[in-house]
Amino acid sequence: MGKSYNIAILGGDGTGPEVMAEGVKVLKSSAQKFGFSVNLTDFDWGGERYKRTGEVLPDSAADTLRQFDAIYLGAIGHPDVAPGILEKGILLRLRFELDQYINLRPVKLYPGVDTPLKDKTPAQIDYVVVRENTEGLYVGNGGFFKKGTADEVAIQTSVNTRKGVERCLRFAFDLARKRKKKNTLGLVAKTNVLTYASNLWERAFHEIGQKDYTDIQHDYYHVDATCMWMVKNPEWFDVLVTDNLFGDIITDLGAMTQGGMGIAAGGNINPNGVSMFEPIGGSAPKYTGKNVINPLACICAGSMMLDQLGETEAAAAIERAVMKATAEKIKDLGAGRMGYSTTQVGDMIAQFVADGM
Ligand code: IPM
Ligand code: MN
Repeated sequence: MGKSYNIAILGGDGTGPEVMAEGVKVLKSSAQKFGFSVNLTDFDWGGERYKRTGEVLPDSAADTLRQFDAIYLGAIGHPDVAPGILEKGILLRLRFELDQYINLRPVKLYPGVDTPLKDKTPAQIDYVVVRENTEGLYVGNGGFFKKGTADEVAIQTSVNTRKGVERCLRFAFDLARKRKKKNTLGLVAKTNVLTYASNLWERAFHEIGQKDYTDIQHDYYHVDATCMWMVKNPEWFDVLVTDNLFGDIITDLGAMTQGGMGIAAGGNINPNGVSMFEPIGGSAPKYTGKNVINPLACICAGSMMLDQLGETEAAAAIERAVMKATAEKIKDLGAGRMGYSTTQVGDMIAQFVADGM
């Protein structure tokens, strides 16, 4: 008898529930194939519930979710709710309260997928961004002074702790070692301007690298230059590590180079707790309910989740199935341009997994 996993399902807003239905389909098909079981519990947290009840998230949410082996999230963000309320109140709050201090975002071009990077192939776009996920400018530290007057002051402080930086760096070094690809790690920061925050990152990076990871070549990159190389020479990269805001920004760029939000997945990881996996695109309100949104990003997030849970064969099988679909079947990753509906793509991947392809 294989293992059984308790998984919290947060479909969320917009197209979230639609892509989640396909993610769950593939999850079940892989469980069947690889001899484990999944026990799914749905939560309705999101914009609709907020509009109905006025509550963004119950205070018990994090404690409830801590009882699960993993969290699978569709999308957060509702057109009728002011920007920030749900994003901060659900997504960021859960990342923080569950101490998911790593945001792991692979940038991988699958076969058959169009990249806007001229002449680049899957062999050249395959790296991972490790984004710190609980500190930096995201802590919400700051305030206004004389708000609304001509003398207004707005301050937003980036909080970087040695402990928070170090655990993120160590995760990234370990990942570079585990990937066995180029055995390199790049720190992305801005030491020439952020002479406190980036300085702490850089010192910790070199100290840890020299002391505990002499097998991993580690280099420092400025974030602006990194954007240039992500377009021009993505093949240089293996693992990149960076702070919360820089990570947010460069992973949208990375996602576009791997074919866009239809395929980009990420994991909010607490290596000692419960982790949450999500497609990194938004809730795409204008495509809601049309059965045209691309579910591959959500399906790939499911694969990352199984990998994290230790079901590495099932995770790899899902990724292979996605690659077969992008190489041989799906015309375009954009919503409404796939040549298949949302549910058909889910059926196809579930079938490929079941067939052991
Ligand atoms: C992401 C998103 C979130 C972030 C938003 C929705 C708060 O852009 O997951 O990258 O900034 O982290
Ligand atoms: Mn983002």
